Amino acid sequence: MSRINLAVLLVLGLLLVTAKQSMQMSLRNPTAEIETSSCKVAFLRLGLVFASDNNEKALEESGLFEPDSENPHVDIAGRRFHVGTLNKTPIMYVKTGTHSVKVATAVQTLLLKFHTSGIIFFGSSGSLDENMLVPGDVAVPKAVAFTGVWEWKKFEAQNKGQLAFGHYNVPVNGENKLGTVAHENITLYSHEESKEVFWLPISSSWYDVATKELKDLELKKCHSGTCLPGTPKVVFGSKASTSDFYVKNKAYGDFLLEKFNASTADSASGSVALTSLSNKKLFVVFQGVSNVAGEESSNSGISSIASYNALLAATKFINSISHATTCL
Ligand SMILES: *[C@@H]1O[C@H](CO)[C@@H](O)[C@H](O)[C@H]1NC(C)=O
Ligand SMILES: *[C@@H]1O[C@H](CO)[C@@H](O)[C@H](O)[C@H]1NC(C)=O
Repeated sequence: MSRINLAVLLVLGLLLVTAKQSMQMSLRNPTAEIETSSCKVAFLRLGLVFASDNNEKALEESGLFEPDSENPHVDIAGRRFHVGTLNKTPIMYVKTGTHSVKVATAVQTLLLKFHTSGIIFFGSSGSLDENMLVPGDVAVPKAVAFTGVWEWKKFEAQNKGQLAFGHYNVPVNGENKLGTVAHENITLYSHEESKEVFWLPISSSWYDVATKELKDLELKKCHSGTCLPGTPKVVFGSKASTSDFYVKNKAYGDFLLEKFNASTADSASGSVALTSLSNKKLFVVFQGVSNVAGEESSNSGISSIASYNALLAATKFINSISHATTCL
């Protein structure tokens, strides 16, 4: 976003804050109150989103989040929306729970109820390409797709899908009654239009900021006695696959890499992308790689390092865009 746009947003923000303050006395709506406690709280908070307990633990252990002393949280639809600062930048954060429905509803609630300039997601993912991403690394994808939206074709259908189960028969390839599966596009609903898409692009302005600000980010190598074998790195520009099933199967992981050039698999990023795009909100995704699809599960120490490293990336990003969006 350009400086001018940000300046306009700031002015608009201040105007709205003033207008809302006068309404606050009559409407004892906790959500409005949190947004309107004047400049103590930035008008345009950044929305930090993550899915799992493991991610939340990383946030707690980091000590970077400080809850607001007066209004530390609001509960809506079973989710707790936390208000405070992350390393001094005003944010709201929510733990969504895993899988697309839960992630999408929590992100939508955040966007509807609070004034956020955008969504910063951090989470965990499995690597589908060990040459590119190993546990402990952080992927900053350029696009995300739902790869679990299938049209399941009939056995021996003329018109076959890309994924043919018979190709994976052992000991020899052949046919198989599971037939084939075609990966489908999804409909992206937005304000004035709906369109069929496969890839959901990360907001380019935020992606560009991330590539610039995070390129020298130092990640954590050890956590409570567990250390990574190598030095973790931030990898930019990958493609990410999301589905409601967790990909632990090597053959399917290889398929996703070959057919879609997807280097990671998770169960949340696609929903963050779809919901943000539908609301025309900026968003960016940071995925800590916690395992390699199809290999021995990483121990919990390694998943913790992965979560922590994704949080470090999100925090650096948030701090680097914050000065423009905090209240005066
Ligand atoms: C899916 O959408 C893309 C555009 O994003 C389009 O090029 C492609 O033809 C569509 N595929 C199907 C199967 O509809
Ligand atoms: C596949 O993705 C990698 C980065 O994740 C990229 O460097 C490469 O050009 C892509 N290949 C194709 C064929 O798109």
